[in-house]
Amino acid sequence: MSKVQFEHLFSPIQVGPILVPNRICETTNTINSSQLPGLIDENFIAHHAAKARGGTGWIGSETWLLHFPFPAEAPDEIGLAVGFAGHQSAYQNPAFQEGMKTFIDEVHAAGAVAIVQLTHLSAVWSPSAIPVIGAQDYTPHELGDEQIEAILDIYGDAAAVAKQVGADAVEMHCAHETLGYSFLSPVTNRRTDKWGGGPQQRIRFVVEALKRIRAAVGDGLALGIRMSGKEFRRGGFDNLESREMVYYIGETGLLNFVDIDVGHCWGAPSYVPSSYYAHGEFKEIGRAARADLDPSIKVLFAGRVNDPVLAEEILAEGCCDLIGMVRAGIADPEFANKAREGRLGEIRRCISCTRCIDEASEPKTIPYRPTCSINPVIGHEIRYAQQFRKAEKSKHVVVVGGGIAGCEAARIAAERGHRVTLLEQDKRLGGQLILAAKAPGRDDFEDQIYFEENEMDRLGVEVRLKTPADIETIKSLAPEAVVIATGSVPRVPIDVVGLDLPHVVQGWDVMRGTVETGQRVAVVSQEDYYETPTIAEYLAHKGKQVEVFHKSTHLGYEIARYSVSMVLAHMENVGVQVTPNLILTEIRPDALEFVSSFGRHTYRKEGFDSVVLVYGSVPRHDLYDRLKAEGEIPVYVAGAAWLPRFMAEATQHGASVGLVI
Ligand SMILES: Cc1cc2nc3c(=O)[nH]c(=O)nc-3n(C[C@H](O)[C@H](O)[C@H](O)COP(=O)(O)O)c2cc1C
Repeated sequence: MSKVQFEHLFSPIQVGPILVPNRICETTNTINSSQLPGLIDENFIAHHAAKARGGTGWIGSETWLLHFPFPAEAPDEIGLAVGFAGHQSAYQNPAFQEGMKTFIDEVHAAGAVAIVQLTHLSAVWSPSAIPVIGAQDYTPHELGDEQIEAILDIYGDAAAVAKQVGADAVEMHCAHETLGYSFLSPVTNRRTDKWGGGPQQRIRFVVEALKRIRAAVGDGLALGIRMSGKEFRRGGFDNLESREMVYYIGETGLLNFVDIDVGHCWGAPSYVPSSYYAHGEFKEIGRAARADLDPSIKVLFAGRVNDPVLAEEILAEGCCDLIGMVRAGIADPEFANKAREGRLGEIRRCISCTRCIDEASEPKTIPYRPTCSINPVIGHEIRYAQQFRKAEKSKHVVVVGGGIAGCEAARIAAERGHRVTLLEQDKRLGGQLILAAKAPGRDDFEDQIYFEENEMDRLGVEVRLKTPADIETIKSLAPEAVVIATGSVPRVPIDVVGLDLPHVVQGWDVMRGTVETGQRVAVVSQEDYYETPTIAEYLAHKGKQVEVFHKSTHLGYEIARYSVSMVLAHMENVGVQVTPNLILTEIRPDALEFVSSFGRHTYRKEGFDSVVLVYGSVPRHDLYDRLKAEGEIPVYVAGAAWLPRFMAEATQHGASVGLVI
C-alpha cells in the first residue's frame, strides 16, 4: 500500500499556551471506564491512555460532573436519585485527584496533552422551568441569582483542581444537556432578567463562567468551550445563531479553542451520530466557525470522522484546526500510529453502530463495562494485557464459520502464534454482517469485513471459502483444536397458524435477496434491536409499502435513547408505519390475526401481499455438540452458535476463545 502523506493530521499546533502534538482529538467521552465510580482506577487509565500511546495527541477522557449548590437541608439523595452530583463532586475527593494526576502523567509520558471537561448538567436546575431533554419530561427548578453565582464559582473551583492535577486545558461543556447549553438555547432559556434575551444576552452565563475559570487557572492552560453548531430541535438555535453566540464569546478574549459538534442527546441527529449520517456530515459548521473566529482561537470539529484519510481531508479543506475522533479511537486506539506508519489496512474503523454510547448511557449489565461492537478489548484492557500471551505450543486450529465470532477467534489465535484454518460456507467472510451492511445507512458495517479479511491475510490464516464443514471435513484437517462459530438461523414461531402459506417469508431471506415480496408488506416482529427497522427500511427503499407489527411498546425497544430517535426518524422519513403491542396468531391468505401484547383483545389486519417474519434467531451448535460428545479433539463454541445476542457479544466471545486456545 502506498504511504499517504498526512501533512495536516500530524503537524503540531499551538492552542493558546499549549502545543498539541498533532490534530487528532479524543474529545471527552464519558464511557464510564472506571470500575470504581467516582474514582480513576486502572481500567480508566488503561482505556484512555491506550489512545495517547496509540498516537492521539489530545486526550479528553471523561467529563467532570460538577455539583449543585443544594441548600444544606436538602439531602444528597435529591441529587443522587436523579443520577447527578449532589453536594459533592468527584473532583473534590483527594483520591480522585490522585488518580487523575497519575492518569495525566501517563498521557504526558505518551506525548499527548490532557483536557479536562467541566460539566454542569441541567435537568435538575436550569435557567427556566422547561424540560431540557425531549426524552425526560420532568421540569427542572429555575435557578435564582444566588445559585447562579454559586455555580459559576464551582466552575472556577473545579478548574483550579484541573490545573493542580496537571491538565493542559479546560473545556467548559456548553453543548448537549448541560447548563451552559441550557443558557444558550432559546428553547430552555426563557428568562427576562440579565441572563436571558437575545443571543448576546444568553451567552452571559458562559462568559461569566469562563472568566472564573480563567481567573482560577491563569494563562498557562488553554481554555475553550464545547458548543453545538446547530440544535436540530424545534425552536432551537440554528447555525447562524450559534455562530453569532460563539463569535461574541470569542470576542471576550477568553477562548483559546472552540470545540464544535452538532445534535443533542435525544434527537436526530444525536451528538453521537450513527451510520445513518454521512462521515463528517456537519463539517461545514466547523468551516463556518473557522471563518468567523479570530485565527488565534482554534476550531475543533467532531462528528463521525472515523478515518485518518477523511480527517486529513477535512483539515486540508479548512473546516477546522483540530479533529475529533472519539469512536475511531474506541474501535482502534492505535489508529493514529497505524496511519502515521502507513499501515492503513490494519485500522479497524468505527462502524458508528452507537453501541458505545448506548451502553454508557443505559448500561445493560452490572457491573458495567464499556463496550464496542467490533473491538473486543474495550472494557477488558487489563484482562487482555494479562491474558494475551504467545501460545506455548503452536497448534493447528480449525475455525468453522467466518462471521465476526469466527473471525475474531481466528485472528486472536493466529496472533498468538497458532496455525489457523478458517472454513466458511459462503463466498465471503462476514456472516450476518453481510446482511446488516445491505441495509440503508449501514454500509459502514462492511468495513469490519474488510478489516477481518485484511487481518486474515496479514496473519496468515488459511481461509477456505465456499467450504461447508461437517465432522469429516473437520477431522480430515487433523486439527488440534476446533472452534465452532456456525452462527444462528432465523427463529420460526411455533404458535402461529399459516406459516406455510406462499406469501410468508423470513427477513434474512429478504436481505439475502433470495426471496421477493409483493408491494404491500407486513413485517411482523418479535425482535427489539436493529434487525426489524433495517429490514423494514430496506423494503421501503425498494419502493414497498411497509407496515411493521411489533410486540413491544415501540420499535427498537432495546436501543438506548441516544440512538433510538435516529432509527425512528428514519422509519418516519421512509414512510414505514409501525403498530406496536401486537402478537401474531394466524396468517391467512387475505388477513393477519393478532392478539394484543397485554391482554385478550384480538385484531385483524388486511391488505398485504407479503408477510415478512423477524423473530430473532436460534443458535446452530450441532457440530459443537457432536465433537464435544466424541471428546477426541478440544472443541470451543463461539458467538451466535452458542447464544445469539448482539455484535459486541459475538466479537467478545470469539476473541475470548482465541485467547484461551
Ligand atoms: C461513549 C461516549 C460518551 C460521550 N460522552 C461525552 C461527554 O461526556 N461529553 C461530551 O462533550 N461529549 C461526549 N461524547 C461525544 C464525543 O465527544 C463526540 O463528540 C462524539 O462521539 C462524536 O464524535 P465521533 O464521531 O468521533 O465519535 C461521548 C461520546 C461517546 C461515544
